[in-house]
Amino acid sequence: MPGDGHLFARGVDLPVAASASGSVITTVDGVEYLDGAGGAIASSIGHGRREVVDAMSAQAAAVDYVHATQFTTESAERFAGRVAAVVPVDGARVFPVSGGSEANETALKLARAFHLANGDADRHVIVARVGAYHGNSRGALDASDRLGLRAGYEPWLGQTERVPAVNPLRDGRSGVEHAEALAETIDRVGAERVAAFIAEPVSGATLGAVVPPDDYWPAVARVCHERGVLLIADEVMTGFGRTGRWFGVDHWGVRPDLVTAGKGASSGYWPLGLCVASGPVYEAVVDVFAHGFTWSHHPVGSAVGEAVLDVIEAESLVDNAAVVGDQIRARLREELGTHPNVAEVRGLGMLTGVEFVADRSTLEPFPRSEGVCERVVRACLDRRMTVYPCTSAVDGRVGDAVLLGPPLSVSVADADAMVDRLIDAIRSVLSPA
Ligand SMILES: Cc1ncc(COP(=O)(O)O)c(C=O)c1O
Repeated sequence: MPGDGHLFARGVDLPVAASASGSVITTVDGVEYLDGAGGAIASSIGHGRREVVDAMSAQAAAVDYVHATQFTTESAERFAGRVAAVVPVDGARVFPVSGGSEANETALKLARAFHLANGDADRHVIVARVGAYHGNSRGALDASDRLGLRAGYEPWLGQTERVPAVNPLRDGRSGVEHAEALAETIDRVGAERVAAFIAEPVSGATLGAVVPPDDYWPAVARVCHERGVLLIADEVMTGFGRTGRWFGVDHWGVRPDLVTAGKGASSGYWPLGLCVASGPVYEAVVDVFAHGFTWSHHPVGSAVGEAVLDVIEAESLVDNAAVVGDQIRARLREELGTHPNVAEVRGLGMLTGVEFVADRSTLEPFPRSEGVCERVVRACLDRRMTVYPCTSAVDGRVGDAVLLGPPLSVSVADADAMVDRLIDAIRSVLSPA
């Protein structure tokens, strides 16, 4: 291996990727993997798109980088306009950053800055859900609730108020009842102390593609609005077409105060995240918001984002995500619907979760020590396919699920092959049914 092993590796004996095209990643040894996970549910338009490489190269040749406090660029301005046309935020103002965690840090700080600017200095508390995932930097990690990631760092964390996870499989509460629980929490803390409520439209990396009841998002939006609490939709995984609509909250007609995005926004061609503020939030803070990163508003990242949007629109990939995603779930349900260890096949658009349990009738999870999720992921890799692990799918602590989230552009043939391999992998790990 070049470099003599000095890379701080994130895995052991990893295959070495040499090229990638569409939904296929090829190693230096010529082995082909189907990218069922789209990396980390990030690849939206598929790999190897020449038009994105060309846009990136043209922008780097024209203006590689300028600092956003010294210059703006046509690239960043144009991309913001394109995002504003699709994001469900009124009077959208787009703050480009380098990833989902940075986007959420930006949103949390914007919420605080908004209240400060309005003279509400006590409003600093963030409310988030059990089993949430909002990122790995300190502020975003505190909003997150995944034991495996928080463990050890708890002395730095603990400022977030928690409301229950929304998980229809295990919890019969309606969306309105969940919204009442949110209202109770805000009222207990004191609305005059609460800055924002942050949640994923469809729970992704921790719980594994859990879709809330249809009445959930409108009801929580109402609760927040009535109490002057800003609503942050974390669309890092669900944004830019992943769920078969432009943004996850579009399924329920909600327009949050802040929307964050990442992953599919650049499809992985550039480390890109976005925090989108509403017009009123922007107007309140624009003169006082002391925040930014060296790489924010990057002209090349913006050119990539625009080229990715061009492909999504030209190839109707949002619709493809809806249609092919439904086909994926239909086949998985047909084949695994009665499997004694499959609790549920769920999801929306090109985001599908399969949850495994020790006992389907009681929903008793496997002990974490059995590593069922890890074994299914390994069995998929043995069958030359990636899936995304969810190792705490019940409540951020225990539970096993995998996400199947290939590029939105995946062909029906590749999607079928992914489903075949996943079913085979599951049957090899768990008792066949
Ligand atoms: C909903 C959500 N928010 C935030 C993040 C963090 O994004 P990043 O890993 O780009 O920092 C993720 C990543 O999985 C995510 O799924």
